[in-house]
Amino acid sequence: MANQRKQLPLSKDEILKMRVACNLAAKVLNHTAKFAKIGMTTNELDLIADDYTKSLNAISACVGYHGYPKATCISVNKVVCHGLPGEYKIKDGDILNIDVTVKKDGFYGDTSKTIMIGNVSKSATELVDAAYKAMMIGIEAVKPHGFTGDIGFETNKYVTRRGYTTIKEIGGHGIGRVFHGDPFVPAFGKKGKGEKIIPWTCFTVEPMVNEGTDEFIEKPIAHSDIKYYETKDGKLSAQFEHTLLITDVGYEILTLE
Ligand code: MF3
Ligand code: CO
Ligand code: CO
Repeated sequence: MANQRKQLPLSKDEILKMRVACNLAAKVLNHTAKFAKIGMTTNELDLIADDYTKSLNAISACVGYHGYPKATCISVNKVVCHGLPGEYKIKDGDILNIDVTVKKDGFYGDTSKTIMIGNVSKSATELVDAAYKAMMIGIEAVKPHGFTGDIGFETNKYVTRRGYTTIKEIGGHGIGRVFHGDPFVPAFGKKGKGEKIIPWTCFTVEPMVNEGTDEFIEKPIAHSDIKYYETKDGKLSAQFEHTLLITDVGYEILTLE
């Protein structure tokens, strides 16, 4: 059987399908984020995302993915990623990453953002700002025939300068016909190292930026192979994610409305 993880250039028709899936993912993310309010549970937000995805004739790719039970990941404050929506009530001052992956016509679009609820502290606001800029600086380092290490190098340099840390073990990934494929896209690295960036493939850039230590604790999710992660020191973590198409001259961000 063909290696499903390997990134092969997409055909014109497949690129069109990626554009659609990614645009839908962006729509679902933005729609869901608008509803986030103090007192609401993360389960309620998850339901909004799932219902809206269905109304767009698309599928929430996370449902049933390695046994994951929800449509979205909602990672609050110290949760680094894969936060499981539940009965947690959103509080004033929370930072909340909503991560949406939509499947449409066999192709995947993956995007997330960290939103700020009510009166957020200056330090948390600065962390969220750094996480957004870290993603954008990583994206700007993307060059066809370049290396994933170029992305990680720029991301980590920026984050470190701002006094934060990046998660090293988890990162971006190839995406397209599969949800998670090659290459691994790290938030740290060396220029010219890592995997080669191939034109007409897609991958995500999704650095996780921590206020304190880059160490994290792994926690199980019932009946699932997916784990969720929290910062070891209990300090905040923030993240943004886009899915990109690599072209022969640069890249395009596909997860935009
Ligand atoms: N959307 C996540 C990512 O950015 C993956 C979530 S997998 C799940 O790669 F099963 F936890 F939903
Ligand atoms: Co992703
Ligand atoms: Co995601």
